[in-house]
Amino acid sequence: MFNEQRQEEILKVLREQGRVSVEELSKSLKVSSSTIRRDLEEMEGKGLLRRTHGGAIKEKKREAEGMKIFLDTANIEEIKKATDWGLIDGVTTNPSSIVKEGKNLEALTKEITNIIDGPISVEPVATEAGKIVSEAEELAKLYKNIIVKIPITPEGLKAVKILSKGGIKTGVTLVFSSSQALLAAKAGATYCFPFAGRLDDIGQEGMDMVKDIVQVYKNYGFKTEVIVASIRSPLQVEKAALSGAGGVTIPFSVLEKLIRHPLTDEGVEKFLADWKKISK
Ligand code: E4P
Repeated sequence: MFNEQRQEEILKVLREQGRVSVEELSKSLKVSSSTIRRDLEEMEGKGLLRRTHGGAIKEKKREAEGMKIFLDTANIEEIKKATDWGLIDGVTTNPSSIVKEGKNLEALTKEITNIIDGPISVEPVATEAGKIVSEAEELAKLYKNIIVKIPITPEGLKAVKILSKGGIKTGVTLVFSSSQALLAAKAGATYCFPFAGRLDDIGQEGMDMVKDIVQVYKNYGFKTEVIVASIRSPLQVEKAALSGAGGVTIPFSVLEKLIRHPLTDEGVEKFLADWKKISK
């Protein structure tokens, strides 16, 4: 079998299974492990897959990385559906959404990580820096891609600084101003979650805050990613995209609304009705 054919076979397995081991490939393709390793290395160089310890996983599409779309829920059915549509990059939860599901935090987080490989954010409930750090360290052990979400308070920022120095990914949440966002970035947060909808609720323009944060981060070259939270409508998603934010976290209902448009539904119905006329 030529290299190209073998690599095509590897891609096929990855498309079907999402991940594969060197051992498995060497057996099924009847070549040595070192040949497979060379293939994987070459394919990783072309951006076709990502190597892992002992194998490889499917490479995420570039466009998904362009603007992150997280699902803002802890509901397993919703996460399964949205993951199946191939549209989401990760999941954000908060104490309220976890409580709504009536399950234990660790068990539910594990369940979510079995469905989606992207970042999953979970929130400690401690309020003192030392305790937030210990809780965060336990949560981070649950899965390689855990984002510890911490409300912006002096103790919270202190914890973010300690955790980011220790290599634990953090998201500063409940952000309502660009000055708070500036501090989140200075503390080394991986993500900043400005709550646009809750500002709109009290008569302020949530997206103005988002635009300011994006500009401030740009001015100083902060690496912290802005993920717009508390989203209530597709229009807010469009505005977030125009602002240049790194992404959004949206409820399942908004994801569904983003896909649908009455003119699309009408168009599909008409196409099908016309088609029926000739197939009679
Ligand atoms: C996300 O990180 C937040 O938990 C969420 O967006 C809050 O949204 P809400 O204002 O609709 O509760």
